[in-house]
Amino acid sequence: MPDGRVAMLDGAVPGDTVLAEVIDRGRFLEGRVIEVVTGSPDRVDAPCPELARGCGGCDWQMIAPATQPDLRAAIVIDALRRLGRVDDAAERVTVGPPLPPSGYRTTIRAAVLDGRAGYRRAESHEVIEPSSCLVAHPLAEELLVDGRFGEAREVRIRVGVASGDRQIVVDADSTVGVVVPDDVEVLTRGDARAGGGAIVRETVAGVEFAISAESFFQCRPDGAEVLVDLVRRGVGDAATDGVLLDAYGGVGLFAATVADARRVVLVESSRSAVADAAVNIGGEPTLIRSTLERLRPMPADVVVADPAREGLGRRAVEKLAATGAGRLVLVSCDPAALGRDTRLLIDAGYTLDRVTTVDLFGHTSHTEAVAVFDR
Ligand SMILES: C[S@@+](CC[C@H](N)C(=O)[O-])C[C@H]1O[C@@H](n2cnc3c(N)ncnc32)[C@H](O)[C@@H]1O
Repeated sequence: MPDGRVAMLDGAVPGDTVLAEVIDRGRFLEGRVIEVVTGSPDRVDAPCPELARGCGGCDWQMIAPATQPDLRAAIVIDALRRLGRVDDAAERVTVGPPLPPSGYRTTIRAAVLDGRAGYRRAESHEVIEPSSCLVAHPLAEELLVDGRFGEAREVRIRVGVASGDRQIVVDADSTVGVVVPDDVEVLTRGDARAGGGAIVRETVAGVEFAISAESFFQCRPDGAEVLVDLVRRGVGDAATDGVLLDAYGGVGLFAATVADARRVVLVESSRSAVADAAVNIGGEPTLIRSTLERLRPMPADVVVADPAREGLGRRAVEKLAATGAGRLVLVSCDPAALGRDTRLLIDAGYTLDRVTTVDLFGHTSHTEAVAVFDR
C-alpha cells in the first residue's frame, strides 16, 4: 500500500489493479477482490472447473504455475524479515527443485454429504461434489469422485504411489453404504484408532515406509523426496558419528533416510507414528513418545525438527537449544511460524545459514521451507 503496509487480498495476483473490499487491521489490511480492473501478466485462467463451481480447495489457481514458486519464496522472505528480523533474508532464500503442480496429493481429507465426498465452498459449510480434482493423485481422485461413503460426514483418503495401496477412513461407526473398488481398505475412525496393521506403504529415497491410518505423512512422495534431499544437505557432514535428534519425527521419514552412521533419537507425540517408526527405521533407534515441550534434557549433535503448522514455539526452542546441537535443520510448513521460530533460534544462539522453499502444494498458497541453522 502507499503507506507501506501490506494488503492481503484473496483472489489478487501481484501486478493486478483491482477493486477490493478491505478491512483495516491496523498493521495490515485484509480483504477480497471484487473486480480485476487490469490483470497482472502473471494472471491466468483457473485450470480447474471446480473453482467456478465454488470449490475452496486451491486458492492460487489464477496465478501462473511458473510464478507461484517465486511468490512463495517472497512470502518466506517477508516473514523472515518482519518476524525473524533477518535483514539479509533475500540473500538466504532460494527456490527448491520444481515439482509438478497438479495430480500430486496422496492424502485427502474431504467432507461427505449424502454419501458423496466433496470440498467445502470457500468461506462456507456447503459441500461441492467435484467431478475432478486438479491436485489429487489419480489413485486418490478416483475415490474422491466415484466413491460412496455411506453415513460418514468426513472421509480421509490415502494412497501409496509406489505400492498402489489405497485406504479410506470414514468418520462413521460402520461402513454400511461405502462403495469403493475392491482393492481399497475401508476403516471406520474406530478401526483406525485401534490400529491393527492397517497401513499404506510408500517409498521415499529408496526406503519403504509403513504408514498407519492415524499417522502423519507428507502429502506427496515426490515432495517428501525433495525434503529428504534438502534435509540431508542441511545435516551435511555435521557430527557424522554423533546423535541425530529427529524431533516431530512422525513415522521416521528423516531418521530413516538421512542419519547414516549417527545414532537416532526420534521424538514424536503420536502413538501410531512411533509404532510405525519402529518398523521403518533401521538399526536401533531410541524412540520417545512425548511432546517436545515435555522432553527430558538430553544431548544431541544434530537436530532435524519438522513441527506442525504452529511451529516450534518458545518451549520447544528451549528444549532443542538445550541439546547443545551445533546444526539444526528446521522443516517448516508455515512461513509466519518459520519467521517466529527463526527469531527464537537466533536469540538462543543459532545463526540462520540458508532457507530453501519447496513447492509441495501447487496451486495453493501453502508454503514449505527447509532452513539450516548453525551454532
Ligand atoms: C509435520 S509432521 C512431520 C512428521 C515427519 N517429520 C515427516 O516428515 O513425516 C509433525 C509431526 O509432529 C507430531 N507432533 C505434533 N505436535 C507435537 C509435539 N508438540 N511434540 C512432538 N511431536 C508433535 C505430529 O504427530 C506429526 O507426526
